[in-house]
Amino acid sequence: MSNTETHETQKANLNWSELIFGYTKTDCNIRYTFSNGQWDDGVLTEDENIPIHMASTCLHYGQECFEGLKAFETKSGDVVVFRADENAKRMDYTARKILMAPPPIDMFLEAVDRVVQANRRFVPPYGTGASLYIRPLLIGIGPRVGVKPSDDYMLMVFVTPVGPYFKNGFKPVKMIVEEKVDRAAPLGVGDAKVGGNYAASLRAGAAAREKGYADVVYLDAKERKYIDESGPANFFAITKDGQYLTPKSDSILPSITNKSLVTLADEMGLRPERRPIDIEEIFDFAEAGCCGTAAVITPIGSIRYREREVVYSPDGEPGPISTKLYNKLRAIQLGEEPDTHGWLRTIEG
Ligand code: PLP
Ligand code: COI
Repeated sequence: MSNTETHETQKANLNWSELIFGYTKTDCNIRYTFSNGQWDDGVLTEDENIPIHMASTCLHYGQECFEGLKAFETKSGDVVVFRADENAKRMDYTARKILMAPPPIDMFLEAVDRVVQANRRFVPPYGTGASLYIRPLLIGIGPRVGVKPSDDYMLMVFVTPVGPYFKNGFKPVKMIVEEKVDRAAPLGVGDAKVGGNYAASLRAGAAAREKGYADVVYLDAKERKYIDESGPANFFAITKDGQYLTPKSDSILPSITNKSLVTLADEMGLRPERRPIDIEEIFDFAEAGCCGTAAVITPIGSIRYREREVVYSPDGEPGPISTKLYNKLRAIQLGEEPDTHGWLRTIEG
């Protein structure tokens, strides 16, 4: 790919409404390298592979972190990215937590702009229900054998058009409470988006799916009493008196979707509250859901906890408040309602 960053403009020929949450090759990705204490200017490339040293710290000592955000085509035909500045700040937090060189906020945003712009034809058309998932990845690429941070880093950002994370989209899923696997330790890195947290969750996710559940609800690792995460997403619940509740915990990822829902819930008079949520409380909620970039809002239809199961969606349909929140969030992302909070970043050209 040349440095002039020319790119094809005709929409890709994809079956947009049939897309799953998976990888589809696009025209290019972007890479920035940090060496000798500074970042370079970044380059777009068609190469899907990364040549790195076999002793790179990302391969041995987990110096790796990532982000996830989405671009949408709006009703008026613009391409917008949802709350990219928040993802930039979260990558900065994560990078510092595991002693990686944090990409400057402006560089992160520039990387997102350039790679989305260059792959504009892969942004799913308005109305298809699909979106362009953006995956920034930061890795330590310097060779180390002793357990020490790298001096060299690469930030790369690829994009891929996606459909819903849970296969039926905005339909209630069955969840099970996990008691045999901890996703993150109380003073560990659960609040940072490092790959190791996902490695730690693979076994529990696979076991849940084998038993017919979509994913697991994790409890806090210290007391096994309070709700932490909900698969690769935050947990929220609606109480019977119409309050939006979501867990407060140092070992969950501060979800940007959840933060947005807290704002919207407040505007809707749902009195949002973050507090430790005792697992026994699930039996009293009116609705529950997972929320995240990939999951958007995925309503929880039932939760199994030991011998008991609570069912929120006996008719297989999402609850009314989850539906209202989902519609509001989607309407903002798709430019159907005014972006009063300044959450959308328009990609030029
Ligand atoms: N929790 C975990 C473990 C996640 O992987 C994600 C996804 O990014 C979230 C929560 C939701 O965060 P966000 O809404 O920022 O995507
Ligand atoms: C996201 O929602 O962006 C995530 O990172 C979740 C998952 C696909 C890892």
